[in-house]
Amino acid sequence: MPTRAGAWLLLNLARRPQWAEHIAAEASALPHDGHQVDAGHVARLRTADAFVRETLRLYPPNWLTSRVVAQPTHLGGHRLVPGDRVMVSPYLLHRDERHHDRADTFAPERWLEASSPGTTGAYLPFGAGPRLCPGASLASLELVLVLAMTARTHRLSCPDSQPYRLDTDGALTPAGLHLAFHPRG
Ligand code: HEM
Repeated sequence: MPTRAGAWLLLNLARRPQWAEHIAAEASALPHDGHQVDAGHVARLRTADAFVRETLRLYPPNWLTSRVVAQPTHLGGHRLVPGDRVMVSPYLLHRDERHHDRADTFAPERWLEASSPGTTGAYLPFGAGPRLCPGASLASLELVLVLAMTARTHRLSCPDSQPYRLDTDGALTPAGLHLAFHPRG
């Protein structure tokens, strides 16, 4: 999952040079020795954090999940019996206009606003409830740091018009992703 999310992140970075410059500027405050980076530094990477959240909104690696009904219940007007399978798609939920303003638009700034969409219950990149991903905090931290450190040292670009093949067999993956990394001077 983290590598899938990282691939979408780098693709978005390559496609959005203005955001890349913001993230690079913010990351310039990080110590050059990675071992010196602490939680205080990461907490100040607000643009990188918003960019990660928005990437996970539009490209959730765990795009489809399911649950098997354990006891008779009613859900959304449907009667469910034990053994029924309920499918939940974070991908569709994250792109639903009823829950996300300009749902199909990549807009990291939505996560910098006071009423961020993370609080509505319609944002599930790490699942929800008792089976919530226990690696969520670690994965988010890793992604923010990878993004910030990459943007600080490199500009990315897409040499091809279609730099990947969408793979939905399992995790949502930009398979065969091809990006160019240009070291900053
Ligand atoms: C961007 C990275 C990651 C994403 C998007 C992600 C996403 C998810 C999601 C959506 C679930 C719940 C699946 C469901 O409800 O059916 C889950 C479960 C889980 N994740 Fe992650 N995950 C990530 C990284 C990690 C990492 C780094 C670890 C371990 C260090 C981890 C360990 C687990 C485990 C053990 C479960 C099963 C929890 C349970 O069933 O109680 N994940 N993950």
